[in-house]
Amino acid sequence: MNNRFYLLPLLAASIGASAAVITSPSGNFTLEVDVDGAGAPYYSLDYKGRKVVSKSGLGLLADEMAFDKGFVITGTDTTTVDRTWEPVWGEYASIRDHFRELAVDLESAPGTSPERKMTLRFRLFDDGLGFRYELPRQDKANYLTLRRESTEFDFGHEDPTLFCIPGDYDTDEYLFSETTFGGLAEAMASYRGRHTESQAVEGLSVQTPLLLKTSDPLYINIHEAALDGYPAMLLDADPSGKKLSAHLVPDRLGVRAYLQLPFNTPWRTLIVSDDARDILASQLVLNLNEPCKIEDTSWITPMKFVGVWWEMFTGHKKTWAYSDDYRAKPGITDYSKLPSNGRHPANTANVMKYIDFAAKHNIPGVLVEGWNEGWEDWCSYRKNRQFLFDKPYPDFDIDSLTSYAASKGVKLIMHHETAANAADYERQLERAFSYMKEKGYDAVKTGYVGAIIPRSEHHTSQWMVDHARHVIERAAAYRIMIDSHEAPRPTGLCRTWPNWLAQESARGGEFESMGGNPPSHTCILPFTRLKGGPMDYTPGLFQTDLSYYGEGKTVKAGTTLVRQLALYLTMPSPLQMACDLPENYERFADAFQFIEDVPVDWRDSRYLEAEPGRHITVARLDKASDDWYVGAVTDENARKALIDLSFLPKGVKYEATIYEDAPDADYRTNPQAYRIRRQTVDSRTKLRQPLAPGGGVAIRLQPRDKALAAKK
Ligand code: NOJ
Ligand code: CA
Repeated sequence: MNNRFYLLPLLAASIGASAAVITSPSGNFTLEVDVDGAGAPYYSLDYKGRKVVSKSGLGLLADEMAFDKGFVITGTDTTTVDRTWEPVWGEYASIRDHFRELAVDLESAPGTSPERKMTLRFRLFDDGLGFRYELPRQDKANYLTLRRESTEFDFGHEDPTLFCIPGDYDTDEYLFSETTFGGLAEAMASYRGRHTESQAVEGLSVQTPLLLKTSDPLYINIHEAALDGYPAMLLDADPSGKKLSAHLVPDRLGVRAYLQLPFNTPWRTLIVSDDARDILASQLVLNLNEPCKIEDTSWITPMKFVGVWWEMFTGHKKTWAYSDDYRAKPGITDYSKLPSNGRHPANTANVMKYIDFAAKHNIPGVLVEGWNEGWEDWCSYRKNRQFLFDKPYPDFDIDSLTSYAASKGVKLIMHHETAANAADYERQLERAFSYMKEKGYDAVKTGYVGAIIPRSEHHTSQWMVDHARHVIERAAAYRIMIDSHEAPRPTGLCRTWPNWLAQESARGGEFESMGGNPPSHTCILPFTRLKGGPMDYTPGLFQTDLSYYGEGKTVKAGTTLVRQLALYLTMPSPLQMACDLPENYERFADAFQFIEDVPVDWRDSRYLEAEPGRHITVARLDKASDDWYVGAVTDENARKALIDLSFLPKGVKYEATIYEDAPDADYRTNPQAYRIRRQTVDSRTKLRQPLAPGGGVAIRLQPRDKALAAKK
């Protein structure tokens, strides 16, 4: 790993008695930190002379002692850091980490007790701010029962638009609201009762990452980085004050975190720009995470995969469960004595078909869900049955499938659905991972569907954050890659643990068969959820008329076929599914060629156009060749994307293969109409590319003269 590191000491300017002020390296941002008359710390942030965050409170409150007032500043320290690092995979081959840091040391004001110490650490980048609380060992107590974090984000000087989902301790699988502080009550009320499994928080709370847009406009993404040993943060909204305040996910006793000192909280992050494209390009969250902890990363392999999966969602009445008899006979444990229900696609013959398809189309992985014992009762969250992670169903011949896959150069991807029984998963974990390695698996999709985590923990409480960390660390020890579903939302930990290839942690493509995803959804996710890390969105839906999950009625997906190709660029992930059934891909083989070709790991990325909820156009350079790819998506409105190819090296001709919506395509009426055409382009070309309502475009650019392109 290449870490160029420079330290430039710099003095913090002083305002009044103790205020500290720093500016970002380019001078765009100014941060001020101070304590008020009651000794309560606060900060404010400006961008290009405009207020971003007005004076906002900081602090922590534990049973043992309070860290929110009664402080004096005893010292400040500033440094400038400029270094680059190389991620194992991602949107860029190398990432610059350039910031000015301010550490503010706080101690109890004379006469206050007990004695307390805390450091506030701020990192001010050219694309935003990160800050965290650092609690060193204290004289009086080193074990804290944390009740509250009082971090605030005050936008009282503005009336921004918010792109957000409701506060919820257990799920983030929601569509976004585009609203204002004044409209939040109505927007949040509209979600109530819609999600039966979740523990939605009453009141006006929202989840991070969320996006704010002011009238100027300024775009502001709020999230957190390096969530480890601490609960996830929601934000409570105060509509009249236009303020957001931290709301940590509690355990059943109302405790937010049990902390052993010394302890540093996760970073609170603000990515800010007057250009929406900068929000998408920002690597601030990754920069605030610790460097990679895995020494040899050669086994971490970004890849595409198909799966025995969509059959269970769309209209074929297929099941993860092997047998229907189990519901009636919960006492029976020997599956070989039971007949298959005949609707169980995780069977040897069917999996072989997927392996054949993957091998034929150069897709490296095949996921198989429903391969193991325990699914008969999974929707009632394991009341009767236990998932066993080393017990294949009788019709899934794991050994012959592993060797068949190997003979075809394909890898099977494991699936561990826990139905939220994370404690039982921990008990089985070592056995489950050993079993995977014994059977030749290198990657697993984990899942935590359901509300009932043991001991009434929540999906995003400290206990589950610890669980996720434990699983990823153990997986690294076994050289296993993870794709987690229903886990605490990502906060850039994939930099530290690059075997954490992807997460779901938002409303994914599967909802096309469970209520639908309007086209705007995938124009918001890159500005919000994706700032924490890649999403296993499961693009690649070609059969856009779907059978509604479990009911058989037909629904239309919120997409054209071509848009699904563009999602491989606009929703980048080192682990990308081609979600549809092989027979649907065979019907549109020429369009599937794009999925076959598109890489999942990039040398460079350029955001060409962007507006949250409306449209995104991005160009990416393959890490392994000199091919560029361009993807654009729009919302429900037709649009002309302006694709300025000036990023191409000068003097090199490229052949563009353009996968475009047909002129009469429309996601509501004619979603599968597309055209594929070829055109010669170079760095002077500006394509004015029509996108259908709910549509997109996907382009592959191959240099005519490879040697010349390689030289440039
Ligand atoms: C929910 C996941 O998001 C989905 O991908 C999976 O198929 C089901 N759980 C079953 O594990
Ligand atoms: Ca899910």
